[in-house]
Amino acid sequence: MTTTAVSTGVAVRLEEVSRRFGTVQALDGLDLDLAPGELVALLGPSGCGKTTALRILAGLEDADSGRILVGGKDVAGVPVNRRDMGMVFQAYSLFPHLTAAENVEFGLRLRRQSAAARRRRALEMLELVGIGTHAARFPQQLSGGQQQRVALARALAIQPQVLLLDEPLSALDAKVRLQLRDEIRRIQLEVGTTTLFVTHDQEEALALADRVGVMQAGRLEQIGSPEDIYRNPATPFVASFVGLSNRLAGVLGADGVSVLGTPLPVLNASVAPGPVEALVRPESVDLTADPLADARVVAVSFLGPLARVTVSLPDETLVVAQVSSARLADLPPGTAVRVTLLPIPVVVSSPR
Ligand SMILES: Nc1ncnc2c1ncn2[C@@H]1O[C@H](COP(=O)(O)OP(=O)(O)OP(=O)(O)O)[C@@H](O)[C@H]1O
Ligand SMILES: [Mg+2]
Repeated sequence: MTTTAVSTGVAVRLEEVSRRFGTVQALDGLDLDLAPGELVALLGPSGCGKTTALRILAGLEDADSGRILVGGKDVAGVPVNRRDMGMVFQAYSLFPHLTAAENVEFGLRLRRQSAAARRRRALEMLELVGIGTHAARFPQQLSGGQQQRVALARALAIQPQVLLLDEPLSALDAKVRLQLRDEIRRIQLEVGTTTLFVTHDQEEALALADRVGVMQAGRLEQIGSPEDIYRNPATPFVASFVGLSNRLAGVLGADGVSVLGTPLPVLNASVAPGPVEALVRPESVDLTADPLADARVVAVSFLGPLARVTVSLPDETLVVAQVSSARLADLPPGTAVRVTLLPIPVVVSSPR
C-alpha cells in the first residue's frame, strides 16, 4: 500500500460571491462553506455557475464582489499558483508530449523539488490512482479513464490544500465512471483534502459527497447531506432536480396536502392554500392489482432489483411508481390497479 502524507484539509468559504459576464449574472451572491476535509458536490443545471464558482475559487477568474476565505484567510490578490489548489477538469488536460509520470511531475517542477524526489512522488501518486504500471506511457497510449487518473494524480501530487474537480468523470463510460468515482472518494478520504466536486449527475453527487449543494441561477438553493437533499428538498426546484418526482394535483389545507384522496405532510411553507401541485417520489406510490380499480398499468421498465411502473389514472394523469421487480409478474401492462400514496412528506408548488 502506498503511503501518502496526510494533509489536513482547510476550511473554504465563499461569501456572497458575484460575477457577471456581459448581461449574464453567472454568480449572484453565492455563499458556500466547506469544512476541513469535507467533500461537497455542487449540482445544478447547465449554466447555473458551477464552473465559474470553481474558477473563482482557484483564482483563474476574478469575482466582481464577495470574498473567498481559505483557512480563514482572504485570498484576494493571491495568484493561481500560490493558492495551493489541485484541479481536474472535464476534458483530459494532460500535456500530450509528456509521459504519465512527467505529467504528474509537472506541478512539482514548479515547486522546485529535486528530480529524484519528483520522480518518487510521481510514481507514488500513479500507484495511488491505480496506474503505477503505466508511468512511461504518453497520453495517447492511455484510455480516457486512465488519462483522468493521471490528471487526478497530477492534481494530488502537489499535496494541495483544496481539490477542485470540474466534472472529471463526464467523458467516461458508465462502468469506468463508477470505478473512478469510488476511487476518488477513497483517495480523498485517505488524503483528507477539502474537495469541491462539480457535476450535473445527481446520482454521482449523492453517492460521493458529504454534502450536496444544489445551485440555480448563480445561487445556492439548498445544501445538505445527500439524504437530506433527497428526503427534505426545500423547494420545488430541488425536489424536481434531484431524483424523480411525479407532479400530481392536490389541495393544500391547514394540515397538509390532499393528493389522490390521501393527506400528505408538506415540507415547504410558502405556498398559498388551495389547488397546488405536489411532487411525489415514485417510491411513495404503491400499486395493488384490483380488477375493480380504474387505473391501468401502461408501461413497465425493469431496473434490476427495482422497476418503475407507469400507471394512467382515469383523468389520464400518468403516475410513476417504483416497486420491487419481484412484483412485476402481477403488474403487466393493461392490469387494473389501485394507486395508494405513502404518507411521506412532499414539496408543493403553485399550479402551473
Ligand atoms: N468567460 C465567459 N464569458 C461570457 N460568459 C461566460 C463566461 N464564462 C461563463 N459564462 C456564462 O456564465 C454562465 C455560467 O457559466 P458556467 O460555466 O459557470 O456554468 P456551469 O454551471 O458550469 O454549466 P455546465 O454545467 O454547462 O458546465 C453561463 O451562462 C455562461 O455562458
Ligand atoms: Mg461547467
